[in-house]
Amino acid sequence: MRIPLIAGNWKMNGSLALLEDFGNAFARTESLSKAIEIVIIPPFPYLANADEAFEGTLVQIGAQTLYSENSGAFTGEVSASMLKEFGVHFVLVGHSERRTLFSEDDAAVLARTRQALEAGITPVLCVGETLEERDAGRIDDIVLGQVAAVLDGLTEAERQKLVIAYEPVWAIGTGRTATPEQAQQVHAAIRARLRTYSESLADDMRLLYGGSMKPSNADELLAQPDIDGGLIGGASLKPEDFIAICHAAG
Ligand code: G3P
Repeated sequence: MRIPLIAGNWKMNGSLALLEDFGNAFARTESLSKAIEIVIIPPFPYLANADEAFEGTLVQIGAQTLYSENSGAFTGEVSASMLKEFGVHFVLVGHSERRTLFSEDDAAVLARTRQALEAGITPVLCVGETLEERDAGRIDDIVLGQVAAVLDGLTEAERQKLVIAYEPVWAIGTGRTATPEQAQQVHAAIRARLRTYSESLADDMRLLYGGSMKPSNADELLAQPDIDGGLIGGASLKPEDFIAICHAAG
C-alpha cells in the first residue's frame, strides 16, 4: 500500500506573505484526507518560517537541493544536517533544472542522495528525458539510466527510503502535460526496473509525476496505477490550486 504524496516545489518563487497564505489555507483544510502526505518545498531562506507556518497542519517541509559534503569551505552551499535542523523531511535531488543549469551529473546526484540518507532525510530523485531524447526513442535509456545511476550506488536498505519523481523535461513549466498514458508508460517502466532489485522495492516505492500538473489534469494522472503522487511547480504557488490537487490525491 503506497501512501500518495503531493509535493509543491516553489523553485525560486514565493515570499513570507505567500507562506502565511499557505499556512492559513492549510489550517482550514479539515476535509483533507489524512491518508496522504503533503510537502511544501520553499527556497532555503523560508524553511524556518515554513516549519512554523505549517505547524499543526498536515504539511511537511522539503528542500530543493543540498550539497554533496556535510561541512567545510563550500561558499553558498547547504548541507543535509543543516536542513535536518530546520525540520526538513524531504529533499529533491537531480531536478532537471539542477542537472542543466547547475551541471549536476549522475555522480553529483548520487553523492547528494547519500548525504540526505545519512541525515535521515528522504531523497526525491528526479528523472526525465528532454523532447529530443523522447523523439529519438531514448526515453527508457535516459530515464532508467538516471534511476540506475543512483540506485546501483546504494544498498537495498537505502534504496527502500527513496521516492522517485518522473518529470519529462518538455512538460516542466510549459503547460504541456504528458498524457496520463504517456506518464503511466514511463512509470511502469521505472517500476519494472525497480523489480530487478527486489519485488518489495518495486511494490513499495512511490513514483511521482511532475510536469504541468494542475487541478484540471490531476485526477486523470493520479488515477494511473503506477502514479503515486505529484511534484508540482507552477500550480503549487496558489493555495487553492495546490489544495485542489491534494484533494485529487486523497
Ligand atoms: O519540480 C516540479 C516541476 O519541475 C514541475 O513544474 O511548473 O511544470 O509544474 P511545473
